[in-house]
Amino acid sequence: MEHIGIQTRLACPGRFGSDNQMDIETLIIGAGAAGMMCAAHAGSGVMIVDHAKAAGEKIRISGGGRCNFTNLHCSPDAFLSENTHFAKSALARYTQWDFIELVDQHGIKWHEKTLGQLFCDTSAKEIIEMLRNMMQVAGAQLALNTGVESIKAKDGGGFKVRLSGARNDLIDARNIVIATGGKSIPKMGATGFAYDIAQQFGLHVTTTRPALVPFTFTDKRFAPISGVSTPARVTAGSGSFDEAVLFTHRGLSGPAILQASSYWHEGEAVRINLIPDQDLSGWFKTQRQSQGKKQITTVLGDLLPSRLVDHIAKEMDIDGRVGDLSDKRIQSIITALTDWHLTPQGTEGYRTAEVTIGGVSTEDLNAQTMETKAVPGLYFIGECVDVTGWLGGYNFQWAWASGMAAARAITA
Ligand code: FDA
Repeated sequence: MEHIGIQTRLACPGRFGSDNQMDIETLIIGAGAAGMMCAAHAGSGVMIVDHAKAAGEKIRISGGGRCNFTNLHCSPDAFLSENTHFAKSALARYTQWDFIELVDQHGIKWHEKTLGQLFCDTSAKEIIEMLRNMMQVAGAQLALNTGVESIKAKDGGGFKVRLSGARNDLIDARNIVIATGGKSIPKMGATGFAYDIAQQFGLHVTTTRPALVPFTFTDKRFAPISGVSTPARVTAGSGSFDEAVLFTHRGLSGPAILQASSYWHEGEAVRINLIPDQDLSGWFKTQRQSQGKKQITTVLGDLLPSRLVDHIAKEMDIDGRVGDLSDKRIQSIITALTDWHLTPQGTEGYRTAEVTIGGVSTEDLNAQTMETKAVPGLYFIGECVDVTGWLGGYNFQWAWASGMAAARAITA
């Protein structure tokens, strides 16, 4: 490991690489999107540790391996938090256009897939490489396979940190930045570390739950149409999204469902409009005149995948010839198709959730710097903060923006 701008004292001279005592300016815990962004901009005297064997693992697997790294339409409205104003400052001071400029400077080619979502043309690894190169140029040291055993505030400011794992140095740091993400995908190294540290320092942590996650139904009612996908409008609580719904063996998935899951609470119904943006009354009138002798299931096949029509026809008791259906019956079919109420039994949970809703309470953080109000020098950035974006590059934009906010404060 290089030592740039950091004083190293050997507390146990015979065992180089372990039991070192180091004085550093800033220790960043978590080499994910937010931590690396912060390290890349926080100057020398920075050490960044991660208990995983590689940095930026979630970046690597994101966007199907192409990383949906930001969104052209990024604005504070696309974020959930107990304080919806909190994210405004950081997002305004480091925008999607700033990150696009950064990837352009590094020659990373990208494209817009849909709805303003920007992806790498080649591989998400390019984003990791870019951040690692920037960290190296900035003089930040990266220590992998390294966790944290304890953090203690020192009288008069700063912190003493005992590392664990590959290194068990005792660190004296003026600043600590917690960038350990949320609880999503424990298999990839996600932990509740940030929340534990927040609580240790007397900060509030809002209720956390998995989000951007598929719904499950214990009766496996959609197993027969597993793999069928259709555009729809899905509403849960105050969130409503027009995108694809995917029927799965265990329940419901697809972008519209993942988005709605962030607004859903256990026991609530999800409402699906299978045919949004169409005047169905007018459409049925025309069908009655032109195809009156046909079965309604056949006619609906013009609007929806036929496997889905067969399935919902049974579930919603839809049958008969179009011309024989009364106005009242047609109206009830329209309601069934456009306001389908389904109550999921649950979600796939943190096992597959893309993000964690909730986290370190924004009421305890400075919105411009991400520093805790009560403990000078202690910062929280990225997903561990109670700021959660929609699907589509918003969560990475929050990681970049909050990481940058802390870096600017540290170097000010
Ligand atoms: P992140 O989780 O990236 O990093 C935290 C780091 O801390 C990890 O490296 C972890 O190993 C480390 N760590 C945890 N506990 C530790 C401990 N106790 N000690 C030391 N280290 C510890 N978003 C988006 O905008 N576009 C996308 O395309 C996708 N795609 C996507 C796909 C999948 C499958 C998932 C799971 C998630 C996404 N996301 C996404 C969400 C996005 O990945 C996520 O919001 C950011 O990675 C959050 O960045 P952070 O740096 O806050 O946490």
